Amino acid sequence: MTTLRTNTSKTNTSNCHLHSCPHRIFYSRLFLRGPLKPVSALYPGSFDPPTNGHLDLIERGAKIFEELVVGILRNTEKSPMFSLAERLEMLKTLTAHLKNVRIEAFHGLMVEYAKSIDATCVLRGIRAVSDYEYELQMALMNRKLEPTLETVFMMPADKYSYVSSRLVREVAQAGGPVKGLVPEVVEQKLREKLEPAYRFHDEMQEGRAPGAKEKKRKRKS
Ligand code: PNS
Repeated sequence: MTTLRTNTSKTNTSNCHLHSCPHRIFYSRLFLRGPLKPVSALYPGSFDPPTNGHLDLIERGAKIFEELVVGILRNTEKSPMFSLAERLEMLKTLTAHLKNVRIEAFHGLMVEYAKSIDATCVLRGIRAVSDYEYELQMALMNRKLEPTLETVFMMPADKYSYVSSRLVREVAQAGGPVKGLVPEVVEQKLREKLEPAYRFHDEMQEGRAPGAKEKKRKRKS
């Protein structure tokens, strides 16, 4: 017959149960750490131009962070399609209904800017697996630069999973439709900026551009 060995020493019987008691753990942690502080987050990016995917992420972020600062990178190397002033204006208009969202511009290291505005978290969007490698690399580099800053990834709605500023620029530069990919104010700005491309594209569609009829005839034959 096997006998069940029970440990009767004081530390291992009564204390063992108490140490693993969920209430005890909860209250002792709360006591040691105090209540969690509201988190202020930075959502950095180029936003050239802002897309519906960006807006979707801003709206999601605004729901979980106390304050969300959208930081537009003033990138001196790239030549953006939209000036910093234009991007600031577009994003301010698009987020006017979100009271805890602020739009700002920054230059230099993102982690230093985050620190200067007391953000303890960086928000980035991941659309597909293809984004992951680049985002992971950036998050780890930022952690190396500033270990106290956490990166949080959120996913935009799946209907925006293929939308990027780069592809929007490419489609618009050829006068293609960007409806549903970017907010209406951005669509309007793209049309204004790329007016000749849109005019040529529309004329081709309507068969009014020089050579359009010829092209149509060739396609039919
Ligand atoms: O919209 P994007 O172009 O993907 O945003 C990239 C951005 C602006 C977040 C990134 O390039 C950045 O943080 N640049 C600031 C300079 C910096 O801190 N570089 C180190 C990144 S590991």
